[in-house]
Amino acid sequence: MVDKTSGRKDDHIKICLREDVEGIFKDTGFCDIEFVHRALPEIDFNEVDLRTTFLGFKLSAPIMIAPMTGGSALGKKFNQILASAAQELGLGFGVGSQRAAIENPSLADTFKVRSVAPDVFLVGNLGMAQLVQGFGLVEARRAVEMIDADALSIHMNPLQELVQPEGEPRYRGALKKFAKICEGLDVPVIAKETGCGVSAEVAKELAEAGASAIDVSGAGGTSWAGVEALRTDGGSTVGGIFWDWGIPTAVTTAEVSLSVKVPVISSGGIRSGLDAAKALALGADLVGIALPALRAAQRGKAAVVEFLNDFMMELKAAMFLTGCRRISDLRQASFIITGRTRDWLLARGFTWDKAGRLRRV
Ligand code: FNR
Repeated sequence: MVDKTSGRKDDHIKICLREDVEGIFKDTGFCDIEFVHRALPEIDFNEVDLRTTFLGFKLSAPIMIAPMTGGSALGKKFNQILASAAQELGLGFGVGSQRAAIENPSLADTFKVRSVAPDVFLVGNLGMAQLVQGFGLVEARRAVEMIDADALSIHMNPLQELVQPEGEPRYRGALKKFAKICEGLDVPVIAKETGCGVSAEVAKELAEAGASAIDVSGAGGTSWAGVEALRTDGGSTVGGIFWDWGIPTAVTTAEVSLSVKVPVISSGGIRSGLDAAKALALGADLVGIALPALRAAQRGKAAVVEFLNDFMMELKAAMFLTGCRRISDLRQASFIITGRTRDWLLARGFTWDKAGRLRRV
């Protein structure tokens, strides 16, 4: 018999590969942000250096392939392809929710990638909703040990749980349970949204609870309300109505980066190295890419490597044209924010100082 969770996960992959699952009327906001071009960059292009460290791990660029899959033969295939591409390029990689393998250990193999990715910064994954249902430190340790992970991300997906017919939209007590995992686990714990963003207020709660990093995963990229609406055609209307729900990625990236001291991963609709440069300029330490990596992986490892090489070239181009030699220099790069993203930021209490830098009052 096909495991129920695995069957659902395969549906998700197939829908994401086949259908238009991104924001419809909402975008990430990166199109409202433009760097001020520097006609005299005062550096050579080949001096641009993408290397960085994240939670003490060295990466050849501030990029990770975001958690997506595992738990089935199809998931295993994608995990192997994506992890080996990350290994080749020195980037980070996250497996999808390991819940299925905690409940059914025979599926553990579909998440294990160390044989093809011995050196990658590898992140395990469980859901906040599962913590509320009874998963605790034992399961979190098992998830880490299962794949020899360097960190564990715990995803928040209240909207998806609500739209999914089998969903468990129960979040009462989640923060306390999350704090216990942060306290007891030997590896860093990353709190991660899944496409609706994290507000400054929630980011502070997560950081106080002990999160080592926050992945904002904002709106404008893959919409999980949308994916579930497509999967349950004829079901609840909530998925369609809430398709574009959430804090746009550019806004949530700025909010969280300026509100907490822990490192920030910007994901949700990061589609080019130029998007990544903007996210890093807004204060992110790393970007996460899901959907485009999955789609490239359909064509094999070489296609993923090619996509990521282009992405890194675009990031380098943005750095050269703003005179940034290192990733950390992007925080000093000049950019302007217009339109809806500016409105969002003003409404959320942001202001600009005399030097033109974004500040939260
Ligand atoms: C995801 N995502 C996800 N996130 C998570 O924390 N655990 C998971 O198991 C999954 N599963 C999953 C499956 C598939 C097929 C996709 C496309 C995505 C969410 C993902 O990590 C990311 O937060 C969002 O997809 C937004 O990024 P993109 O897709 O807009 O780049």
